[in-house]
Amino acid sequence: MERLQKFSPFYVMDLVREAQRFDDTVHFEVGQPDLPPSPGVRRALAEAVEEGRFAYTESRGLSKLRERISDHYRHEYGVEVDPERILVTPGTSNAFLVAYLLSLEAGDRVGLADPGYPCYPNFAAMVDATPHYFPVDRESGYRIDPAALVGSGIRALHISSPSNPTGTLYDSASLAALAEACRSEGIRLISDELYHGLVYETQAPTALAFDDEAIVINGFSKYFCMPGLRIGWMVVPESLIRPAEIIAQNLYISAPTLSQYAALEAFDYDYLAQVRDTFRRRRDALYDALDPLLPVDARPQGAFYLWCDISRYSDDAMAFSRELLEAIHVAVTPGIDFGFHGTATKIRFAYTRQIGHMLEGVERLREYLTRR
Ligand SMILES: Cc1ncc(COP(=O)(O)O)c(C=O)c1O
Repeated sequence: MERLQKFSPFYVMDLVREAQRFDDTVHFEVGQPDLPPSPGVRRALAEAVEEGRFAYTESRGLSKLRERISDHYRHEYGVEVDPERILVTPGTSNAFLVAYLLSLEAGDRVGLADPGYPCYPNFAAMVDATPHYFPVDRESGYRIDPAALVGSGIRALHISSPSNPTGTLYDSASLAALAEACRSEGIRLISDELYHGLVYETQAPTALAFDDEAIVINGFSKYFCMPGLRIGWMVVPESLIRPAEIIAQNLYISAPTLSQYAALEAFDYDYLAQVRDTFRRRRDALYDALDPLLPVDARPQGAFYLWCDISRYSDDAMAFSRELLEAIHVAVTPGIDFGFHGTATKIRFAYTRQIGHMLEGVERLREYLTRR
């Protein structure tokens, strides 16, 4: 079937499988936090089980949770968001499909950064839309230039800030300019803000501050440390509330109920500050150790990834990643998982493990690359 040809695999999963063969692997390939969610979340989850919260909820999610998410926008960004515009979703992953179904017809083009998060083109394939790649690199700060949108013919633009795989950010000025270009070109802006909160020196702006017509997607998998609870949310413009609800009713009925009760307690800002601090310390430690060996190509302002240049050693990221795993049991993600532009000479390191574990990996790299 033609559609199936359009889905691309996640190459790192092959490496993850191979990494199981060794019990001393140093893991830089894992893109999820190793920290638990706040104590309140764990308590609320246990209580929800005790109280027998096993039924579906309303498709848009518990109204208490939507109100809490709305409070979060006021608290974090000073932006008012009507809870009616919020839908709770099973992870951001399902929200992407809802957003594409709301924004794209078959044959439409969706603008994506290259490199970027690899699932987006696969979601495009699901709705018979076509990715239109905007190459981004060190020179452009890994940001899409608003001028590139003019005449591009795309129906929607899907960004992530901070980005996976580079950790780079759209600051207020660049996000405002992009939103303005989308507005004047009639392009729907879809903003993946899943790594908000994990931004270390500044604060990430939300697209909602610049564009009421944007679809904004966020979730509990990274900053809130709840990836396995499969819960996220989206904010849609007023005109799309009812269509989004109808899609949600059909696609997943409602997000997991136990997870929704747990998420009510996720906005514990003292705990979240500790999470952020832990990742900031890890970023600094890994950056300082790794940069002299494999230069970090983009100064990462957020998320938990370093995007490193391997061109000193190889122009085949997949072969190089395999070699590191076989030779020194260090698991990384090959750049080619994230697109085409400059990705054959990049690998991604996730700093989602303790500093001691990561420094052990860097030591193995130093020793191996020196004698290679
Ligand atoms: C940029 C980005 N968006 C979305 C996701 C999906 O997350 P989830 O479905 O757990 O919310 C990921 C996961 O790694 C990601 O890196």
